[in-house]
Amino acid sequence: MPARLAVHDLTLTYQSPGGYPLPALGPISFAVDAGAFVSVIGPSGCGKSTLIRILAGLVSPTTGQALLAQQAIRQPSSRVGVMFQEANLMPWRTVIENIALPLELTGVNQAARRQAALDWLPRLGLGDEFADAYPSELSGGMAQRVALGRVLIQQPDVLLLDEPFGALDSLTREQITLDLMRVWALNNQTVLMVTHNIQEAILLSDRILVLSQRPGQLIADIPVDLPRPRHIDDSYRAEFGAIASQVRIGLSGRSRGFGKVDLPGT
Ligand SMILES: Nc1ncnc2c1ncn2[C@@H]1O[C@H](COP(=O)(O)OP(=O)(O)O)[C@@H](O)[C@H]1O
Ligand SMILES: [Mg+2]
Repeated sequence: MPARLAVHDLTLTYQSPGGYPLPALGPISFAVDAGAFVSVIGPSGCGKSTLIRILAGLVSPTTGQALLAQQAIRQPSSRVGVMFQEANLMPWRTVIENIALPLELTGVNQAARRQAALDWLPRLGLGDEFADAYPSELSGGMAQRVALGRVLIQQPDVLLLDEPFGALDSLTREQITLDLMRVWALNNQTVLMVTHNIQEAILLSDRILVLSQRPGQLIADIPVDLPRPRHIDDSYRAEFGAIASQVRIGLSGRSRGFGKVDLPGT
């Protein structure tokens, strides 16, 4: 079951190495409806990864709340899958063994987890011939597909993606974006994705949240009302360009207030 995510007056202040407080994020409030795909875009260092870490239950906020299905997030949960820019595969394990790792940790037997991982390969855009390859034999794009498979095989209700394709070349990135879109359409998970790429954000998302400079606050909440299924060619449409320019205006700090505001609560 996809679940609603919400943050309410969330802030996080780090302690700098010099010992003074470093406000990294917020105050920020927003909600992501169950089954929605929402992207977060904002300047480098504005607290996007911090937001992901709080929602993943890896760090606690300084003030405010982060909620998954109305429950405070206090620790990592198997309902929430997280993916970062680096694939972080285990180099001594094959593709199949990497994808199946979460099943191994929950005690699924070897034959069943191999079959489950094999079933994922085509959905991830990976050929069978890579099943028993090692990470050192994979391109960056393929490694990220394996990392995505390792997250998806647990069938999480929520996906948190922190610039998952940020290190890939643009063609690979485009292809993997389309694959992610297809996988999401099949699974209908709640997704919050951090990206620097406006085109990718528009293609994938129902809404785009634009954050200010550090400490990141919400400066625009832009709905993406383009029909689905979407295609790369949609990026040439006038409506697509209009949304892209709204995002750019938000990023440049020239935004006047909000688009549609979706406050957390019910
Ligand atoms: N563990 C930490 N301790 C101290 N400062 C941190 C820590 N992690 C991140 N920061 C600082 O907090 C700010 C926000 O970081 P981050 O969330 O990684 O930003 P983003 O992902 O948007 O680039 C940055 O100024 C960063 O240097
Ligand atoms: Mg980051």
